[in-house]
Amino acid sequence: MEANIDKPIVFVGGKGGVGKSTTAASLACRAAGEGKKTLLVSTDPAHNLGDIFGRKIGGEIVEVADRLSVLEVDSAVETDRYIKGVKDNLSGLVKSSLVEEVNRQMDLAKASPGAEEAALFDRIVTIIIEEQAHFERIIFDTAPTGHTVRLLTLPELMGVWMDGMLEKRRKTNKNYSQLLNDGEPVEDPIFEVLSERRNKFDQARKILLDNAVTGFVFVLNPEKLAIEETKKAISQLERFDIDIDSLVVNKVLPKNADGEFLARRKQIEKPYINEIKQSFMDKHIHYVPFFTEDITTFSQLKKYGKFLEGSNIFMEL
Ligand SMILES: Nc1ncnc2c1ncn2[C@@H]1O[C@H](COP(=O)(O)OP(=O)(O)O)[C@@H](O)[C@H]1O
Ligand SMILES: [Mg+2]
Repeated sequence: MEANIDKPIVFVGGKGGVGKSTTAASLACRAAGEGKKTLLVSTDPAHNLGDIFGRKIGGEIVEVADRLSVLEVDSAVETDRYIKGVKDNLSGLVKSSLVEEVNRQMDLAKASPGAEEAALFDRIVTIIIEEQAHFERIIFDTAPTGHTVRLLTLPELMGVWMDGMLEKRRKTNKNYSQLLNDGEPVEDPIFEVLSERRNKFDQARKILLDNAVTGFVFVLNPEKLAIEETKKAISQLERFDIDIDSLVVNKVLPKNADGEFLARRKQIEKPYINEIKQSFMDKHIHYVPFFTEDITTFSQLKKYGKFLEGSNIFMEL
């Protein structure tokens, strides 16, 4: 089976600053260079794809190179859109005297914890479902680890929550139909809306868990905190049957790093590289050296991408 890094849909995760955007952009450039129509999507509130491609990118898909399109999803904008969608949906379903109350409730919901995540997830799911037909590769540059882990486990959690809601609704309807409708089932638009969302989440879950379609890649640096965070994220996601089979160990000091200071840093790095090798024995690991400059141009992204080709080859970089 292909490594995660080459699957049609790839999520790139990891701690802030480790090189997620660089890795995602580089994978996207490589795929486009190989002739595959590619969409690169940033869901990190700290977007930096604009910096990488040297132009402003926003909520609409823009083509930045042949076969390469980019999109930055803003969770605040998505929350507004999402809440508006739900309001519109419900306003046709409830009595007009209740519309104001429903809107008030929705505005409260907008400010509640989890609202932005739900909205963001909704957009990601829509992108996956709708854009799969237009792009051969979709690569997500995600927010730092904790956020992404929560996001990816949402379909499971939301599924359970929505089943509860549906069940409650079903019981209410049963009572109503016995009372009002001589036991005949009553039509319930809210039940329909809920089931529709349930189906959408189900569909997303299927795609996320399909090994042939979706891959998860974690980027880390050879440092204590990044290693710990990666271990934790992997075990959390595995609990939800999400398998991370590829890691990118970025910013490895090159062997020929000169000077006493770098030589000392290299010594400090060594046990961390060993720990990575031991802790993640069953993963494809790609090692990328620390470059002398930031990675901002297409040619640097290409150079970076070379290190994502083979795996588990730890040469003294
Ligand atoms: N291998 C590397 N060598 C040198 N600089 C790098 C390397 N990888 C990433 N960078 C730089 O490090 C900074 C953070 O990388 P970025 O990909 O934006 O991280 P993240 O998206 O995880 O926050 C950027 O300025 C990027 O150009
Ligand atoms: Mg980034």
